[in-house]
Amino acid sequence: MVYLNWQLTSATLVIAPLMAVLIGWFGEKLLIFSRYSQNRASNLAAMLTEVFGGIRLVQAFSAQDYEINRFTLEAEQNRRARFRSEQLKALQFVVVGFLEAMSVVVLFLLGGWQISQGNLTGSGFISYVTAVALLIDPISLTTSNYSEFKQGEASWDRIVELLAIEPQVVEKPGAAEMPPVQGQVEYNQVTFAYGTGPLVLQQVSLQVKPGEIVALVGASGAGKTTLVNLLPRFYDCQQGTVLIDGTDIQTVTLESLRRQIGIVPQDVNLFSGTIAQNIAFGQAYYDLTDVETAARIANAHGFISEFASGYQTVVGERGVNLSGGQRQRIAIARAVLLDPKILILDEATSALDSESEALVQEALERLMTGRTVFIIAHRLATVQRANRILVMEQGQIIEAGTHGELLQRGQRYAQFYAQQFSSQLL
Ligand SMILES: Nc1ncnc2c1ncn2[C@@H]1O[C@H](COP(=O)(O)OP(=O)(O)O)[C@@H](O)[C@H]1O
Ligand SMILES: [Mg+2]
Repeated sequence: MVYLNWQLTSATLVIAPLMAVLIGWFGEKLLIFSRYSQNRASNLAAMLTEVFGGIRLVQAFSAQDYEINRFTLEAEQNRRARFRSEQLKALQFVVVGFLEAMSVVVLFLLGGWQISQGNLTGSGFISYVTAVALLIDPISLTTSNYSEFKQGEASWDRIVELLAIEPQVVEKPGAAEMPPVQGQVEYNQVTFAYGTGPLVLQQVSLQVKPGEIVALVGASGAGKTTLVNLLPRFYDCQQGTVLIDGTDIQTVTLESLRRQIGIVPQDVNLFSGTIAQNIAFGQAYYDLTDVETAARIANAHGFISEFASGYQTVVGERGVNLSGGQRQRIAIARAVLLDPKILILDEATSALDSESEALVQEALERLMTGRTVFIIAHRLATVQRANRILVMEQGQIIEAGTHGELLQRGQRYAQFYAQQFSSQLL
């Protein structure tokens, strides 16, 4: 264009800086709106996951209308946010298009004037206009690409935010493998708080011999779960040390540590897949006969073989639903197969009916033999056979001893016992 007619080109290019400024302004606005609209969309997604995950609760409280209202409100805000950024893009399209059209008008006026002055021929003008027409597409492409780029920038910011989150528990550089565990556990003056919250554990010291069964009792909120969760390093204590076989657990790799600790929690999550896959969870290759042996020990073989497809029965979101007691026994089979020297049972039987409880209890007995066990239980019947009972209160161990010893002392544990005993009689 410059070669063909530099006067015309410089005249039409007067408009270019104005366009650049406008496109930049729209881009910034679009970035803000996109961020907002993406936040809205993620709120909406979080809400849906939450509500459908807790659909039983919603139904039990007849909260459908309430949830529908909440959803409608959020969806409306989501729609508005989207609408505003679409509106902006539409406006940008019109404004930039108008400027483009104006430059064409200027071009024709100037071209006409030059022709009337005899400085330009008709054919010269046509070849110039053709060159301009070739330029229009790249310009509008650049504009729309720039909008997309700005929207992408908003997404990128969110991704960077996520990637920047540092895990709280990190392996020391060059951490060694945890050697095969014998099962000796030691807590040394352990003090812990969640983040900047109040102290949940205060100077807890504890020594457990290999193969010992230790029961933790105490009111809910006393810190029992927190105490056992320090062992697989779900959290790190702020003061003190936790040792397994004399090795500080913060000096070994997480994988080698966690592989040697079995956990049977209160609520067992099953993953979509077959029962066999769920029992052999985390192992890419497994022997089906091992899985079956584990299931037998866990009192799970009976109900599993009643399914038409046995161990290949699909469970989880797309499969059959298992009862709490059945899930619990799957979790026990998992632990049997893993064969850890250290075992954590966190209220593993507290959500069960008495029939499953007997089956689960029996399975747990088999699982516990020959391992160091931390057992947290509400029902003192489960606790009585432990080698040692620790009573926790407000992050401290206030009493320790066998069932008989603690009853004789006639303090906190004896009170618990009397309470439960009388409630059972009622
Ligand atoms: N993830 C967490 N973040 C913040 N506080 C927590 C968390 N888990 C537990 N707590 C708090 O720590 C205290 C001890 O909880 P927990 O160890 O679960 O007690 P227990 O198992 O004895 O019922 C409670 O006051 C509880 O509110
Ligand atoms: Mg707990």
